Amino acid sequence: MAFLDDDLSPLVWQDGALRLLDQRALPVEERWLTLTTHEEVATAIRDLTVRGAPAIGCAAAYGVALGARQVEAGSTTTLETVYATLQATRPTAVNLFWALRRMRAVPGQTSAALVEEARAIQREDIAACRRMGALGAPLVPPGGVLTHCNTGALATGGYGTALGVLRTLQAMGRAPQVFCDETRPVLQGARLTAWELLRSGIDATLITDGMGAHLMARGEIGSVLVGADRIAANGDVANKIGTYAVALAAAAHGLPFFVVAPWSTVDLATIDGAQIPIEERAAEEVTHLQGQRVAPAGIRVRNPAFDITPARLVAAIVTDRGVARAPFGPSLAALR
Ligand code: MRU
Repeated sequence: MAFLDDDLSPLVWQDGALRLLDQRALPVEERWLTLTTHEEVATAIRDLTVRGAPAIGCAAAYGVALGARQVEAGSTTTLETVYATLQATRPTAVNLFWALRRMRAVPGQTSAALVEEARAIQREDIAACRRMGALGAPLVPPGGVLTHCNTGALATGGYGTALGVLRTLQAMGRAPQVFCDETRPVLQGARLTAWELLRSGIDATLITDGMGAHLMARGEIGSVLVGADRIAANGDVANKIGTYAVALAAAAHGLPFFVVAPWSTVDLATIDGAQIPIEERAAEEVTHLQGQRVAPAGIRVRNPAFDITPARLVAAIVTDRGVARAPFGPSLAALR
């Protein structure tokens, strides 16, 4: 499917089905899948066909709509099962639970009404990204920008969070030089962010995860921009594993570390980062690269998919409702 960069979205509702850009296949292949059941959507969220906190929320919403169609068509499944199946896919990105709560509040729970709500969630997410772009761009100081994982159109309904800020800077004629790190173990940075930055014409350089601190020490990086999977009430931030190390390196070099996330990622019911559930994923993501074994069979493996960056390392949290700063508790509460 062809699309303009500006219109890139990993999810398209078309002819009563959800079309998903298969993010496992990027950057080698642009493969679109057509999903017609909530079970397929649940699998797609779990196996990272669709990933990134806001995009997971959008996908789950469409999954509910597909589930309602299955129920209306006489399937033995119930709406309760549909919600429970989608809810059990991934534990850390709070956008998933936020979107399911919003879908549950739709009067009547008819598939027609649920499709409309899912479309509204995606539309509003794109608008939120654009707003964050406008709010975040003026904060970025001169110099290179380091980003981690993928926070672009692929991770959202469209446009992107931290990458959205870079796109806004580009539109303002101020596009910085961007360093994207690989983001082991699943390589969202190398496979997805590098692909998106190239497509949008932003000056981008790929580095391995261990190179960021070195480039900071050499003065090649002036700030860090990342997204988030859940932001606790005190400003602690859960994001892709490796984010904490990047934040520590930024603090050691006196560089601002910005978090860009829509309000649907803010979880004021969770007091601090210690309360955020961290997903542990399969050992094969660490022992294998693209299906190829890179570690000896039998080695013990840990694979936490996210880590917590303490609020004290965060310069500002850019949301679509405004910019929060330390002390984050009252600052986030004021944006509620
Ligand atoms: O495991 P993933 O790829 O879903 O993790 C994604 C991230 O950690 C992103 O940085 C985060 O969701 C922000 S996306 C705008």
